[in-house]
Amino acid sequence: MDASAAAAHLARDVDPVSRERLEAQGLTMTLVTGDADREAFIQVVARGFLDPELTAEQVREARARGDYRRMTGVYDPAAPSASAPVATSASWLSELTVPGGGVLAGSAVSAVTVAPTHRRRGIARALLEAELRSAVAGDVPLAMLTVSEATLYGRYGFAPAAPAATWVIDTKRAGWRGPGRSGRVDFVSRDTWREIAPGLHEEVRRRSAGELEIPAGHWDSFAGTRPDAKDPGKKRAIQWRDDAGRIRGAALYTVTENGEDWTKSRVDLLSLIAATPAAYAALWRFLLELDLVGEIRAGELAVDEPLWWMIADQRAVTITVRDHQYVRILDVPRALEARTYTGSGEVLLDVEDSLGLSTGRWLLRVIDGLGTVEDVGDSAATAPVLRLGIEELSAIYLGGVSVTTLAAAGRIAVDDADLVAPLFLTPRAPRLSFWY
Ligand SMILES: CC(C)(COP(=O)(O)OP(=O)(O)OC[C@H]1O[C@@H](n2cnc3c(N)ncnc32)[C@H](O)[C@@H]1OP(=O)(O)O)[C@@H](O)C(=O)NCCC(=O)NCCS
Repeated sequence: MDASAAAAHLARDVDPVSRERLEAQGLTMTLVTGDADREAFIQVVARGFLDPELTAEQVREARARGDYRRMTGVYDPAAPSASAPVATSASWLSELTVPGGGVLAGSAVSAVTVAPTHRRRGIARALLEAELRSAVAGDVPLAMLTVSEATLYGRYGFAPAAPAATWVIDTKRAGWRGPGRSGRVDFVSRDTWREIAPGLHEEVRRRSAGELEIPAGHWDSFAGTRPDAKDPGKKRAIQWRDDAGRIRGAALYTVTENGEDWTKSRVDLLSLIAATPAAYAALWRFLLELDLVGEIRAGELAVDEPLWWMIADQRAVTITVRDHQYVRILDVPRALEARTYTGSGEVLLDVEDSLGLSTGRWLLRVIDGLGTVEDVGDSAATAPVLRLGIEELSAIYLGGVSVTTLAAAGRIAVDDADLVAPLFLTPRAPRLSFWY
């Protein structure tokens, strides 16, 4: 991510429209910049997500790793503890991978909480709209988030754009029919995993639409290398090297014993990053063949994992698919020109946005997979028309759902689905491998 764009985002003042709306309710909306205020903010976010009160060490560690976050707080001067916000949101710029391997800067939004004492009076709406208008003011073409509740964000134009699959694998039954062994797997320390995993993620994130840069502070949380980490010793780390000795993959997992049956402990896979198909196969095979393990649980996987075709008994796996990476397009032409398409063709997109940020009519011309976008205003259609809301366009954007499916669901209207839908098809399902 361009450091000057990230710094400009951090410094951008809060959106005046939302600030005035909240002022009318006697509330103050402001950026949270001082150390003490940022610590109070972190404590309030923990309470908002129903976590226990954080220790002083936990707050300090979270603040030390959170400099990249633009924090917005809403304060109630009449509250007994007026220095603690009654509502919070945070955002930072991150590169979103789009179909074709390009990246686009987006505003990653997180830490949205409203104290139960102040709920249902429009504060979350003011915060979310402020995040979106601030992104537009900074010429940021997208926003994205992961969510606690699926029903909260569609009203602001966010759509589930990259689903996540959770796998529960009966390892005694799965069997292996993937490639033969190659390279070598070794245990490494958590510190070593912490050193190698970010580089591997940087290498692979542009291969999956939906992936983001992972903020530096997240890696210590994953690895258990933060001083305040709970039970870090439970985390086991492995790496995979190819025959030339290069590290091409790594995984992190915990094991929980099964007191009823010692041969059926459970592995929770926290991360598996593979830079090559051989690394992917070897790391999965290692996990599936662990002795004294009966079950592996792995989340945030793609819905088209090759692993499905590497196991002998597909009924050994139970897969649950959920919404995961939410995307909200703000700048339609920039977003559409950043990704690639399939084949050639034209479509006129007639986009409606209840927040008025992205309403318009654009002609998308695709030649051999590359798209150009022209603002056609009210002029007559010269191509099949795709009429849709910004939420639905955001849902289609990464290839997580097809035009045909959304048309069949009655969510969009399209003149000729057979002509339009193939343009948006992608060779791989989008994926986001973590929460933020
Ligand atoms: C979810 C939360 C942020 C909502 O805050 P709030 O200030 O009460 O929300 P608002 O009053 O601004 O309501 C905004 C809209 O969301 C709807 N809404 C609010 N909470 C909702 C919920 N839990 N489920 C479904 N819809 C909800 C409101 O009906 C309103 O709809 P409208 O504007 O279209 O009429 C707040 O309850 C909270 O902090 N929850 C715990 C933390 C959390 O889940 N945060 C979300 C992180 S992803």
